[in-house]
Amino acid sequence: ILVEKQGFRHFMLKEIYEQPGVVRTCLEAYLNSDWHSSNGKPPVNLSLPAELYTDLEQIQIVACGTSWHASLVGKYLLEQLAGIPTTVQYASEFRYAPPPLMPNTLTIGVTQSGETADTLAALAMEKERRMNQPPQFKPRLLGITNRPESSLGLLVSHLIDTHAGIEIGVAATKTFIAQLVAFYCLAIDLAYRRQTLSADSLEKILEGLRLLPAEIEMILEVQERYIEELAHGFVDTQDFIFIGRGINYPIALEGALKLKEISYIHAEGYPAGEMKHGPIALLDAKVPVVAIAMPGGVNYEKVLSNAQEAKARDSQLIGVTPKDEGEAAEIFDRLLPVAMVDEILSPIVTVIPLQLLAYHIAARRGLDVDQPRNLAKSVTVE
Ligand code: G6P
Repeated sequence: ILVEKQGFRHFMLKEIYEQPGVVRTCLEAYLNSDWHSSNGKPPVNLSLPAELYTDLEQIQIVACGTSWHASLVGKYLLEQLAGIPTTVQYASEFRYAPPPLMPNTLTIGVTQSGETADTLAALAMEKERRMNQPPQFKPRLLGITNRPESSLGLLVSHLIDTHAGIEIGVAATKTFIAQLVAFYCLAIDLAYRRQTLSADSLEKILEGLRLLPAEIEMILEVQERYIEELAHGFVDTQDFIFIGRGINYPIALEGALKLKEISYIHAEGYPAGEMKHGPIALLDAKVPVVAIAMPGGVNYEKVLSNAQEAKARDSQLIGVTPKDEGEAAEIFDRLLPVAMVDEILSPIVTVIPLQLLAYHIAARRGLDVDQPRNLAKSVTVE
């Protein structure tokens, strides 16, 4: 398949712009549009057999890189919405130190390419060691991938296709968003089957999900120019810290990874509450801090106070936060504004300005954004 840049300077930028469409496509594929709490239909249809879910006691997820970050958001959703204990491991760690065998376990491998050697090996090992076990230990393997025809497809018996279309930029953007949507729908499906969410909460989340494409479009249409200008002020910065809490902690990790991958600027993502246990020692006027602060939950005030601790060390503070929040506007020096969405859905919008920030810093530095040095789109060796 020939994929073109269609007027965009880089594939990465084109792929960032494709994200509203990707979210729409995934929602159309996964959700039953005629669902209503009273008509007896399930809200989600992932075409997965019931036996994958029967007596489920825990979920373990293996992945690498950006897929590992999506998995951390997935863990949050599976635990907080569906009440299922969930672990997330780097595939390269899992394969040489697998956890003790537990019964009724679903193992999920997340890999956009379906070809990452460590992820495939971790899944193959898990399948193998569960083969000759009593029924409750038998392997239940699910893959989440953008390439159903990949090696992953041959290894696992069930797949969720992330429908993002081919991604050319080495730094994952639209496939990450698609993985997030897949995890929202999987968690909602499980929550529905296990009745861990009220009909009202279910409806609220589903309604919120359907509004997300327009919220992403808003950032792309209204804010991109502004983010570009802001990014140009950081072309010579040497270190960045990204902080977030709760469901936005993995987004802080992803924001830092995007920046590292394509701009070669040192960046660390941290759960905001951990900053005082180390990274705070790095802070001064030369180290900007990007804080993700979504109102409406237990994390907002906490992140703001962590941000203030950074400000007291002279760091320039950049807030990923809704624009009209008075308190945040006072604390942050600069804003990467996002729409006011429910905190639980916010990763799908908070990651967008971070992708744009990394992109515009790297593009301004004149770097090969789509083919960063030392990195490969899929790592097929150990
Ligand atoms: C490589 C890519 C990353 C990607 C990781 C996992 O390192 O450069 O962008 O996140 O592999 O890839 P996967 O295909 O397994 O999601």
